[in-house]
Amino acid sequence: MTLTMIAALGQNRELGKDNTLIWHFPQDLKFFRNQTKGHPIVMGRKTFESLPRMLPKRNHIVISRTNPELPEGVEVFSSIEAFLEAYKEVEEEIFVIGGAQIYTQMLPYADRLLLTEIEQSYDADAFFPNFGKNEFERKVLSDITENGVHYSHIEYRRGKTMNYNELLEQVKSIAKEAAEFMANGTVEKVDEKGDVANIVTNMDVATQNFVIEKLTPLIPDAIFFAEEKENQALTNEYTWIIDPIDGTTNYAYDFKHSCVSIALAYNHEPLLGAVYDPYLKELFWALKGEGAYVNGQKLSVKQNTMKSSLILIGTSPYKKDLADKTFDTLKKLFVNGRDLRRSGSAVLDLAYVAAGRVDAFYEESLSFWDYAAASLFVMEAGGCFAGENGNWGDVAPIRVLAGNPNNIEDLKALVK
Ligand SMILES: NC(=O)c1ccc[n+]([C@@H]2O[C@H](COP(=O)([O-])OP(=O)(O)OC[C@H]3O[C@@H](n4cnc5c(N)ncnc54)[C@H](OP(=O)(O)O)[C@@H]3O)[C@@H](O)[C@H]2O)c1
Repeated sequence: MTLTMIAALGQNRELGKDNTLIWHFPQDLKFFRNQTKGHPIVMGRKTFESLPRMLPKRNHIVISRTNPELPEGVEVFSSIEAFLEAYKEVEEEIFVIGGAQIYTQMLPYADRLLLTEIEQSYDADAFFPNFGKNEFERKVLSDITENGVHYSHIEYRRGKTMNYNELLEQVKSIAKEAAEFMANGTVEKVDEKGDVANIVTNMDVATQNFVIEKLTPLIPDAIFFAEEKENQALTNEYTWIIDPIDGTTNYAYDFKHSCVSIALAYNHEPLLGAVYDPYLKELFWALKGEGAYVNGQKLSVKQNTMKSSLILIGTSPYKKDLADKTFDTLKKLFVNGRDLRRSGSAVLDLAYVAAGRVDAFYEESLSFWDYAAASLFVMEAGGCFAGENGNWGDVAPIRVLAGNPNNIEDLKALVK
């Protein structure tokens, strides 16, 4: 299948307001008709509802979680993944016709964008995603002036469709190589980052540089979010999230429980991740929608309830002001669960939840690089990941809980 997204947008990527279009350009409607006629069209439930009538000579596919009552002949999928799976073998061009939510989520899968770029701004409440234009080849198809407004039909063709399986293989090799580089390195310098518990060694910086250098050619425009650098807020662009040494204190003490963690996010969601523990020679990885693995073995979380849960915990050592909250909570988890463990590597802790080696994880304050890859392992292993006091991908640390469907609600209640 070739997936083409077709949209008309104002100069600030405006799409519509109050679930209606905010302009009327008959020649553009004709362009839309000519392009999509005879092809299946996919849309969000709201866009379907905004259509004045069903469009002739096109199969209508609607994405909706709420299973609304729709006219006969409309095919409904409860998720984008279900639609992609059902149509993956179909050798036909399929048009994604909106709206904002669907464009945003389907952009990674689009081979081609056909955009009407209008040189005027509008009052709007729905916007087209801000996409990485240098991933696409741009071609102007036509320039039109209608009702005194100038607009162009532009085709963006994806230069090379991102093959996430291939990319994951490369990321797995880089994580392994970097972790071996780290394990064979020598700690020559230990600095404190504002707190005696928050240290950085020469090897954190060297490993991070090693990883960035290897990842850069894989997606030239990608943004880096990494422990040993200043970071900007996550955007919807491809972003690598790197923890060059997770468990730096373990590493500096030769405690032999540290790892390298690499994740790739797109559109504020994790796409893939790889983590290597050079001491146990364990490579964890996951690709969104395709499961999580350790050394080729599929991971799945345990199903224990709270009272039978063995819980890995972090003490947020860089934030001693959280000590009362943390240790009060640990007592509650200890009393209400089976027992507690503390390893010093949050990445491996979360990977161990995914692997069913423990039942749950709690830490009051964790940075994005600590959970970016491993949160995907937990979710892909059938577990539950919850970020609280903030959102997944925030620059500021958040509280992190992980568990399974049978213990997560009790865990949340105890930690509140
Ligand atoms: N300028 C253009 O070319 C253009 C084209 C199309 C639309 N528009 C405009 O865009 C606006 C509508 O966009 P919108 O973002 O509000 O709505 P939308 O994307 O058309 O539809 C959103 C709905 O799609 C369903 N949905 C979204 N993500 C889903 C997922 N991952 N799994 C299952 N269902 C999912 C949900 O339906 P349920 O709530 O039923 O679960 C959700 O409420 C309107 O203003 C419209 O005029 C403009």
